[in-house]
Amino acid sequence: MQIRIRSGGHDYEGLSYVSEEKFVLIDLVNLRSISIDIEKENAWVESGATLGEFYYKIAEKSNVYGFPAGSCPTVGVGGHISGGGFGTIFRKYGLAADTVIDAKIVDVNGRILDRKSMGEDLFWAIRGGGGASFGVIFSWKVRLVQIPPSVTVFKVGKTLEQGASKLLQKWQRIGDKLPEDLFLHAATEVVNASSNNNKTIRVSFDSLYLGEAGKLVPVMQDNFPELGLKLENCTEMSWIQSVLYFAGFSTSESSELLLNRTAQFKGFFKAKSDYVKEPISETGLEGLYKKLLEAETSELILTPYGGKMSEIQDSETPFPHRRGKYTKSNTW
Ligand SMILES: Cc1cc2nc3c(=O)[nH]c(=O)nc-3n(C[C@H](O)[C@H](O)[C@H](O)COP(=O)(O)OP(=O)(O)OC[C@H]3O[C@@H](n4cnc5c(N)ncnc54)[C@H](O)[C@@H]3O)c2cc1C
Ligand SMILES: *[C@@H]1O[C@H](CO)[C@@H](O)[C@H](O)[C@H]1NC(C)=O
Ligand SMILES: *[C@@H]1O[C@H](CO)[C@@H](O)[C@H](O)[C@H]1NC(C)=O
Ligand SMILES: *[C@@H]1O[C@H](CO)[C@@H](O)[C@H](O)[C@H]1NC(C)=O
Repeated sequence: MQIRIRSGGHDYEGLSYVSEEKFVLIDLVNLRSISIDIEKENAWVESGATLGEFYYKIAEKSNVYGFPAGSCPTVGVGGHISGGGFGTIFRKYGLAADTVIDAKIVDVNGRILDRKSMGEDLFWAIRGGGGASFGVIFSWKVRLVQIPPSVTVFKVGKTLEQGASKLLQKWQRIGDKLPEDLFLHAATEVVNASSNNNKTIRVSFDSLYLGEAGKLVPVMQDNFPELGLKLENCTEMSWIQSVLYFAGFSTSESSELLLNRTAQFKGFFKAKSDYVKEPISETGLEGLYKKLLEAETSELILTPYGGKMSEIQDSETPFPHRRGKYTKSNTW
């Protein structure tokens, strides 16, 4: 029989829980203990934990430590770390997989191996190569990262009529070159134009800055004055509140929401990702808008790399998308 391994079950294509042949499902949902050592700046986290549970536990211990991983709290640690894992602070700290210092895996013979007994080759492979090809990784020892007590978020959205396309073109030239404390992604959605009832595209620039608003505004003024960011557009909060914010919750809600393993927003989608190394031309963007408008519920998310991601060699982990990768895009 085939074997399927599932941690959080967030595989886009359901590969962790479907098969055309008979299969056995190894479900790690109940292996989800988390033990955090703030003094040593590390943690053991089991694969069945969700990112939300992990973030919550870190924040419970300290308001100046965090973990660089994805923004969806119901994603599982097992599939996420073994596949790479990027999020709002990865330009400063790298991928979730880059923080791994030890791991425990059950191999095909049922042996439990740690970093020392599995050897450096296998330890290399499970940090971004997709875990299921190699065994069942049930626990990870990761480095925690230091976060300022106050971070800043903002979101500025413009429609095509309001000049979004020029802004997006500018963003493509600077997104990956901004200071590593600043994450600024761009996302499109289809909306009704305010002038008439026609459909148009709105581009939202969504940001997390590892510092206070007073410092962010001049950084934006230097790098992206066209966006016209003002202090009033910025909101300061703790890192764990920013986790709630990027998960789509209100920051005034309790961070205990992150412990809920049932996704708040349920929807079916098809997603595809690609890497862009050169800015997409104006004509190219116009073609994209046309396609996005045709499929009304479509979305395109452009994520800037650069920063720490450019300092890590392609060969350091199986995740090769490092220096020179301009953006990552997802069409939903
Ligand atoms: C709504 C949503 C939002 C997302 N947001 C982000 C994001 O912000 N950043 C980002 O980088 N990614 C994001 N992802 C992608 C996500 O990181 C991957 O799909 C990840 O593989 C999911 O891990 P999982 O444990 O939840 O999934 P699963 O479906 O359980 O597993 C995914 C794959 O990993 C294998 N696997 C799982 N656990 C183990 C294990 N313990 N040992 C060995 N192999 C294992 C499975 O067999 C399968 O092949 C998102 C996905 C969704 C659905
Ligand atoms: C930013 O702040 C200015 C000044 O208060 C305001 O006019 C503008 O609408 C704000 N923009 C957004 C996107 O909130
Ligand atoms: C609205 O869309 C229709 C159909 O594409 C087009 O003919 C019309 O000119 C548009 N109206 C405006 C005001 O842009
Ligand atoms: C978890 O979230 C789901 C979806 O939003 C909700 O239906 C459920 O009541 C929540 N569970 C708890 C314990 O809050």
